[in-house]
Amino acid sequence: MKISVIGTGYVGLVTGACLAEIGHEVVCTDNDAAKIKTLESGGIPIYEPGLEKVIPKARKEGRLSFRANPADAIGAGDAIFICVGTPPLPNGDADLSAIDHVARLVATEAKSPKLVIEKSTVPARTGQELKRALSVYSRKSNVKFHVASNPEFLREGTAVEDFLHPDRIVVGVEDEAAEKQLKEIYRPVLERTFTCPVHATGCPDGPAPAWLVTTINSAELIKHASNSFLALKISYANMVADLAERLGADIGEVVRAMGMDPRIGPSFLSAGLGFGGFCLPKDLQAFVHLAERSGVDFAMLREAEKINKGRIDRFFEKLREALWVIRDKRVGVLGLAFKPNTDDIRFAPAIDLVERLLVEGARVRAYDPEAMERARAVLPKVDYVKSAYEAAKDAEALLIATEWDEFRKLDWEKIRDTMARPLIIDGRNLLSPRDMKERGFEYRSFGRPD
Ligand code: UDX
Repeated sequence: MKISVIGTGYVGLVTGACLAEIGHEVVCTDNDAAKIKTLESGGIPIYEPGLEKVIPKARKEGRLSFRANPADAIGAGDAIFICVGTPPLPNGDADLSAIDHVARLVATEAKSPKLVIEKSTVPARTGQELKRALSVYSRKSNVKFHVASNPEFLREGTAVEDFLHPDRIVVGVEDEAAEKQLKEIYRPVLERTFTCPVHATGCPDGPAPAWLVTTINSAELIKHASNSFLALKISYANMVADLAERLGADIGEVVRAMGMDPRIGPSFLSAGLGFGGFCLPKDLQAFVHLAERSGVDFAMLREAEKINKGRIDRFFEKLREALWVIRDKRVGVLGLAFKPNTDDIRFAPAIDLVERLLVEGARVRAYDPEAMERARAVLPKVDYVKSAYEAAKDAEALLIATEWDEFRKLDWEKIRDTMARPLIIDGRNLLSPRDMKERGFEYRSFGRPD
């Protein structure tokens, strides 16, 4: 099928590249001309594992191209995926101006019928507004549009894999034609009839994804309700961790047993610095606002947000307790990205942590395998170094803010010997308290006996 993708951020680029990978002809556009230039010249503006394989291959085979002029992209596809940003407004509501802009653009530029699919995370009922905008602004051309919602459930760092091997595909539609078209688009994913680019040995075994057809309103609600639930789960685990600390229990043991109950499940119960990124925090806020405007007081979500913001305070309590005075202390920070396997620092707890360290007068040396360039742009006063060892050298405390796998495998004896004081505050419960103690560290983490 011929497909257009508007917006080449994390979601749009992964969607466009993967749709091309499974055999469609895809044209992507973005209003950031520099981004399109990078993509046209073979560069990839973000770090997302798998894209380095998928994009060059699809471009070489002529199934993926990038255009700065949105009219070219809109003209090229029978189906148009809207993947533009919906950042938070100062009041926490989702800013839908980019969606509105794209709706007007599509309505005025389209010369033939199109299926317009919202992929960006939007509050419920946005699809209805999208439909209205498309019909109002296309009254001269009289082109007909179908609208659908197809929320993404892509985790950064494994987004290519998540797109090609999802557990569910949700399509919110209002007519059979739209459903049929979407099924055609996803057929290779549903039937697993493509050669997997991520796994050298082919697709991993597993059940085919569930195909869920809903109303547009439900599809939009599914996305916000899912992400908010994940946020709730993390904040819940963090509260249990605080309690475990006071009662002398171990959060690791507690959530392990909790997660074995299939009604609870094992993931998203890791305690520590809390959640960040460009989805969970903003989706949670937008969902609370949507509920409020609809006359529903979703207080438990506000509480989850408050708990999450308080994680940095908890971290500082531990740091202050250990260091006494923070001013002028040399502190090493491991991790800046909001989670491992991404260079994304948007709403990253690690960035809040470093900002606060600077405010308190600490001398900060930081290392992250992928996110340092982005961090430098927002926090220029930090000394960025090329390895975890350099970050630890002469430090009076080493803080773990992101659970990159490489931090698990460090030579901790070497680190201990180069630190001015072998103190570690582990904001992601990455290491074992007993191992670290045996290696001669003062080690503190979350919800576990020190
Ligand atoms: C999320 C959703 O998972 C995805 O389905 C949706 O499409 C987009 O939003 P992402 O933003 O990539 O994906 O991040 P995710 O992997 O969900 O992690 C969010 C944050 O929660 C990270 O900062 C992570 O460190 C934190 N986290 C996660 C915890 O603190 N504890 C956990 O147990 C799990």
